[in-house]
Amino acid sequence: MQKKLNKINLFNFIPLTTQKYLRVYRWNPYLSKKPWFNIYPIALQNCGPMILDALIQIKETQDSTLTFRRSCREGICGSCSMNINGINSLACLQPLNTRRKFITVYPLPHMYIIKDLIPDLTNFYSQYYSIKPWLSNSTYPKHEYLQSKIDRLELDGLYECILCACCSTSCPSYWWNHDKYLGPAILLQAYRWIMDSRDNSTEERLNFLNHKMRLFRCHTIMNCSKACPKSLNPGKAISLIKYKILKF
Ligand code: SF4
Ligand code: SF4
Ligand code: FES
Repeated sequence: MQKKLNKINLFNFIPLTTQKYLRVYRWNPYLSKKPWFNIYPIALQNCGPMILDALIQIKETQDSTLTFRRSCREGICGSCSMNINGINSLACLQPLNTRRKFITVYPLPHMYIIKDLIPDLTNFYSQYYSIKPWLSNSTYPKHEYLQSKIDRLELDGLYECILCACCSTSCPSYWWNHDKYLGPAILLQAYRWIMDSRDNSTEERLNFLNHKMRLFRCHTIMNCSKACPKSLNPGKAISLIKYKILKF
């Protein structure tokens, strides 16, 4: 039994290889029309445990021109979303020490790029603004809006969204129609306000969403729910909005 435990522990904790190589997408519109890749070696023993730690170390010790967003370093701010080994994710939540010797890092796919790993989120945020992501209640409150525990529970699985855009940028419908289709992140946020018992603009919100491009461009492929690094289910939220529209 002890032998078996030792085996498991060794497998989990001894680095499979101490040297990794980050192959990172680079683009600077002032330097080149075309993007290129840089490969950066990283020694595991000198680096923190996550891909974001490696990127920070590269910027500090190898190449200060490498550009990426980050802030919290713990999966809360949504800034460090990027495509790592083909999967949209948060760099601060992705471990460096996996079986791969080469780790490929791209910006979020199908987005206009400002520089290196930084996508232009202007359209994403204007779509967020379009769904009025705030409490809309025409009654003048005499005290704070109260909410029962049961009504509050309706927001679980919705309020945790950090707007990282990993889901929207993994959605084929959003790739081809991001100018018209709101995409899973924004629709999950829209559903969050529809489900808020303190909000009384549900009809207006559903009328806005009841549109062949804004909402019904979703074909329930569910890439979005697979991609979400916070384990949320935007595909389900979209289906529930469609159901609410049918019932309304
Ligand atoms: S379920 Fe809808 S939103 Fe999610 S990936 Fe598929 S088409 Fe996109
Ligand atoms: S639903 Fe998940 S993947 Fe989409 S923006 Fe929110 S946290 Fe990110
Ligand atoms: S740095 Fe905030 S989510 Fe990664």
